[in-house]
Amino acid sequence: MTDTGAEFVVVANRLPVDKRVQPDGTVTWKRAPGGLVTALTPTLATREAAWVGWSGAAASTSLDEQGAPLDEQPRVDGIDIHSVPLSSGEIADYYEGFANSTLWPLYHDLLVEPVFRHDWWDTYVTVNRRFAEATAASAAQGATVWVHDYQLQLVPAMLRELRPDVRIGFFLHIPFPSYELFTRLPWRRELLEGLLGADLVGFHLPGGAENFLTLVRRVLDLDTSRDPVGVRDGLGSITTGTRTVRVGSFPISINAADVADQASKTLDRAAQIRAELGDPRTILLGVDRLDYTKGIDVRLKGLEGLFAAGRLDPAETVFVQLASPSREQVDSYIAVRNRIERSVSHINGTYGTTTSPPVRYLLQPVPRDELLAYFMAADVVLVTPLRDGMNLVAKEYAACRADHGGALVLSEFTGAAAELGEAAYLLNPYDDQNVMDVIEAAVTDDPTAKRTRMAALHQQVRDFDVDLWANSFLQSLAGAGAANEEIA
Ligand code: ADP
Ligand code: G6P
Repeated sequence: MTDTGAEFVVVANRLPVDKRVQPDGTVTWKRAPGGLVTALTPTLATREAAWVGWSGAAASTSLDEQGAPLDEQPRVDGIDIHSVPLSSGEIADYYEGFANSTLWPLYHDLLVEPVFRHDWWDTYVTVNRRFAEATAASAAQGATVWVHDYQLQLVPAMLRELRPDVRIGFFLHIPFPSYELFTRLPWRRELLEGLLGADLVGFHLPGGAENFLTLVRRVLDLDTSRDPVGVRDGLGSITTGTRTVRVGSFPISINAADVADQASKTLDRAAQIRAELGDPRTILLGVDRLDYTKGIDVRLKGLEGLFAAGRLDPAETVFVQLASPSREQVDSYIAVRNRIERSVSHINGTYGTTTSPPVRYLLQPVPRDELLAYFMAADVVLVTPLRDGMNLVAKEYAACRADHGGALVLSEFTGAAAELGEAAYLLNPYDDQNVMDVIEAAVTDDPTAKRTRMAALHQQVRDFDVDLWANSFLQSLAGAGAANEEIA
């Protein structure tokens, strides 16, 4: 870091780097691949930038009551990394607890019952304050600070208290719920007030932005705009008395040109994958973090129904599910893993042979090149969440298929459906019959019709890529921040 701090600071629960401790105790940091860091690379490259986040491991030294504001501060690829330490108790109460057992299920339509615990909330406040303090210490005078996601909703207001000079943007990567769901939270006022510390609050879809405006109006009794919010345009506004907070919709995307380029180099491996799978007529593919929101069990049930009804032949079909382990200490994740693994072995036991099980299930993160080769090998990718803020897997698959091959089955309950819904094979994951009909259609449809659909999907992700997301958010933030600085 420079003595004066960074001009641009990203604040997210996760750091964009992996910490590796060698056997001799030496620590190295390596830039980790990920949507957010790729999205922000151009912005990070042109300015003195810092990233405040958690390394994913428990702090090695014990933290005092207040918690040390900063752990380690390596510089990786020109970004100043500020690692915020969390104790193992804080990981349990803030990360696995309030973030992933309270907010995550509540914001994803109660797919599992959220747990409301005051001790978890207290730790959420403590950890958010630690992030705010680390950010305040790392930002230059008048810096732009971009805070991300549901783990850090109190940071905007805490940071504004500490550093009224900085411009603050907040972006939520998951759905934002309706008044009826959100107001179950005993801490609904505090969370809304936390977000209102920002100059701009962004959501994927206009619906999330409008839910936020309604909540602020009804819970906090503040004046808000009432017009519909547009996409990347037509921002909403909230008057807090001293400032105007702008509210907008900015659907996140991917670096589609780069994905297409990388994917085009995997064709040999894609052919090899098809051969290794026994050269089946149809390869179906699912790629997800192992999360109950993703509807992995929905697609397995649909597949089983199609096999049972003789509508798909298990001897000619292979379904590959690549699942990445996630939040493994949380009960609801243990439960969904058990359900999925039971279902995989039931299908293979019933419809497979000893040499050709129709389902191939991997519970390991797959290297990026390998993942792209699977996308190139797949005839149909199944994206069937019960609820998902966006779903980048759908966009990655569309970006890979510059050859216009393959077909995308997409749940209506993803943010991606707002942009890709017309050309994808859209399904309702709550309707068993529809799930089977749509998967069957994506497998058996006329090849020309499929190519037309994939051409449209590919063009959509090329036209609306992640640069547009980052630039449109940051331009709106600059406008919102400048307007508030004039008032002050
Ligand atoms: P979420 O953010 O909820 O995990 P997204 O679909 O938006 O869901 O993003 C998931 C990201 O993780 C994508 O970039 C996807 O390629 C990657 N990913 C998901 N599963 C795996 C896996 N098994 N191996 C490697 N990468 C994965
Ligand atoms: C979603 C969330 C992110 C989160 C990611 C991985 O994309 O929106 O905030 O980082 O899942 O989850 P994890 O709990 O491993 O960080």
